[in-house]
Amino acid sequence: MSSAANQSLRFDYENAFFADQDFSVERLKALGPQLDAARREVVETDAQQFAAGEAAIPAEKRPLDAGFFELPQRLLDAYYADRQGSELGRIMQTATRLRESVDRVVVLGIGGSYMGAKALMDACCQPYFNELSRGERGSYPRMYFEGNNVDNDASQGLLSLLGNGRAATSVDDRWAIVVISKSGGTLETAAAFRQFLSALKSSCQDPADVAQRVIPVTGSAGKLFELGQAIGCPEVFPVPDGVGGRFSILSAVGLLPAAILGINVIELLQGAVAMNEHFRTAPVGENAVLDYVGTAHLWEQKGANIRVLSVWSKALEAVGLWYDQLLAESLGKDERGATPLTTVNTRDLHSRAQQHQEGRRDKLITNLIVDQWRCDPLAVGHSDDDQDDLNRRAEKTLPEIMSAAIQGTNQAYREVGRPTADIHLPQSNPASLGQFFQMMMLATVVEGRLIGINPYGQPGVEAYKKNTNRILG
Ligand code: PA5
Repeated sequence: MSSAANQSLRFDYENAFFADQDFSVERLKALGPQLDAARREVVETDAQQFAAGEAAIPAEKRPLDAGFFELPQRLLDAYYADRQGSELGRIMQTATRLRESVDRVVVLGIGGSYMGAKALMDACCQPYFNELSRGERGSYPRMYFEGNNVDNDASQGLLSLLGNGRAATSVDDRWAIVVISKSGGTLETAAAFRQFLSALKSSCQDPADVAQRVIPVTGSAGKLFELGQAIGCPEVFPVPDGVGGRFSILSAVGLLPAAILGINVIELLQGAVAMNEHFRTAPVGENAVLDYVGTAHLWEQKGANIRVLSVWSKALEAVGLWYDQLLAESLGKDERGATPLTTVNTRDLHSRAQQHQEGRRDKLITNLIVDQWRCDPLAVGHSDDDQDDLNRRAEKTLPEIMSAAIQGTNQAYREVGRPTADIHLPQSNPASLGQFFQMMMLATVVEGRLIGINPYGQPGVEAYKKNTNRILG
């Protein structure tokens, strides 16, 4: 078992190794030197080459988007030095301005420019946040996500909800756009921005308000950057050079939507910084990042090339999807790389567990478990007629039933020699999620270095884009 400090994320690999099948935990220890070498490459070599600039990066390592690693510390340091003028300070001021002036925010973006913000919202906000009254939300705006598809009916559904350009007369009707695209030219997001901007312009009684209600997050050049300038947006936030889309959750890409929702972005970043420290210093066997990579790698060598992230909380489904993208786009290259799959339990025990228990032996299941729920435990409760025969469980609470299901499922898999590992999040809160996101980004990069696949870049995505553009003429 490995762990970081108290209130820290914990990775438990006990159920992933089977001494009786000659697959004991000694295998992980034996992989230690290779894992250490991969860590050194990430922490030292990659970091130095990245810091020295393009010319210092060997051809086979390009792109080297290693900027995500030090980003949380860099943002916090800048904030502590200048709380008003720093990027984090400006993110918080913009969030406050929107909270005071609008009731809805539409986040436009796709892939790495969308999945992190969605994951943060679902994991940290109340489950039915958008349904709550403004007062119940503490005036934090409702949030919607578009520009992540070209779905005619979904886009029009949201435009209609926003009033189809109807003049907004009170704060309850007013809305804003956060448009996120590193390249600034992604078709889905660009098309949506054009459509939603047009509706926003019609809804603003004072044309000068439009610039205040559009906040671009983008690279330092490109069409979106230029559009932001043309509109006169007072704030344009950066996707830093050297931070790839799916590694950008802890930049303005994730932080601005999070701050708008009232999520504590300082704690989020502090969680990531704590994970960096743990990753740098803890030995194999006690290092959540290296142990996760080692366990997954050893099982992949044994044929488990499907990596199931089994989340035991509805709030974490989008966190699982965020990881799906991270793993698939980073390591799915050269006809290699494990296939990610998110399941939400106990829901998917009723749809996938059969296959996981008796199907092909091609899966490693990693459970993502929240140790402490936000609300007090809810008991099943007593019924006078007891027709459902549940009175014998009347005192049992949902967390107790969930915990029994987790243990029961792990035992069932273990009994037939199927591996599971557990990631324990202390809570579904910013501090824990900051640790988790950084853990998985580091793990993905370490695994890439371990198996000789460049985790950065996504050259394979270009093929469909080229064809789509050709077909569109
Ligand atoms: O990880 C990546 O780089 C991609 O998934 C991108 O985030 C995605 O393609 C969107 O790109 P952009 O932010 O340039 O619109």
